[in-house]
Amino acid sequence: MSDTILVTGAAGQLGQRVLHHLLETYKVPASRIIAATRDPSKLADLAAKGVATRKADFDEAAGLVSAFEGAGTVLIISTDALAVPGQRLKQHTAAVDSAKKAGVKQLAYTSMPSPDKSLVTFAPDHLGTENTIKASGISYTILRDAWYFDNFMHSLPHNLQGGKWYTATKGGKVPYISREDCALAIAATLASGKAENKTYTLTGSTSYSIADVASAVSAITSRPLDVVDVSDEQLSAGMTGAGLPSFVVEMLVSADANIRAGNFDSLSGDFTTLTGKQPQTLRSFIEENKAALTA
Ligand SMILES: NC(=O)c1ccc[n+]([C@@H]2O[C@H](COP(=O)([O-])OP(=O)(O)OC[C@H]3O[C@@H](n4cnc5c(N)ncnc54)[C@H](OP(=O)(O)O)[C@@H]3O)[C@@H](O)[C@H]2O)c1
Repeated sequence: MSDTILVTGAAGQLGQRVLHHLLETYKVPASRIIAATRDPSKLADLAAKGVATRKADFDEAAGLVSAFEGAGTVLIISTDALAVPGQRLKQHTAAVDSAKKAGVKQLAYTSMPSPDKSLVTFAPDHLGTENTIKASGISYTILRDAWYFDNFMHSLPHNLQGGKWYTATKGGKVPYISREDCALAIAATLASGKAENKTYTLTGSTSYSIADVASAVSAITSRPLDVVDVSDEQLSAGMTGAGLPSFVVEMLVSADANIRAGNFDSLSGDFTTLTGKQPQTLRSFIEENKAALTA
């Protein structure tokens, strides 16, 4: 009989879509799936489909071993605890330690591209978690998700209103991918049941600069959008002035520096290897989200 698959962070955006694809795309029976989250009351829809729901909060290590009991494979979705440096690594380490104690046979983890040479503030948490997983002796699949197209949805509506996009990326490129495609590829690895000690990097099929993205957005929305090159200091001052918390400002400035250094600019065919499909294109993503961008 096939093993049970447990997904942490099941109420998050990525977690919900991974569970959707396990059930609907890869037809994994609900009886083989456990959805774990900090607040299981948010998972009533999944429970109604026959998916077992459990509480799993990485900040409450005491309850994690029982949360993982009976699971053959556990997907650890990296948390969003970015405000306190090192907190994520502590959380993820608690999850790995508990999985080992619970007898989990395979771990999957959502990381980032090249965390070993990244300038992004949270890269050490991902690298530390990858190393902790490898040292645990449990079979693993690391899924390094490139920057989501979806991240544009936070800032682009505002950029389009002002007609300007401030960036410190200086023409650096990123092979963006949609969150939806990441969820599909992650579900594919979980459903395959293979224990292979592999690291995959999930990227789109093309690397784009901010000028490339702005040009496509402008053409599809019929609105002007000028790219304005700024220094890290100017970018930081602008975002601080707009009221963003300092840890978010530092994270976004470090991401632009990482793009400028070319550290994100590496294409991978792993999405197609895992799913047999082509990743969504930039144009398709913008067309799909045109209404939200221009609302
Ligand atoms: N590649 C990219 O561009 C990109 C962009 C955004 C995020 N990410 C990463 O991908 C992850 C999922 O992203 P998302 O888009 O689904 O964001 P999201 O909806 O904000 O999800 C945050 C996730 O963190 C989990 N979480 C937070 N605190 C936790 C804790 N104490 N214990 C266990 N889980 C905890 C949440 O689980 P529950 O609410 O179910 O407990 C939820 O799954 C993020 O957390 C981040 O690491 C990557």
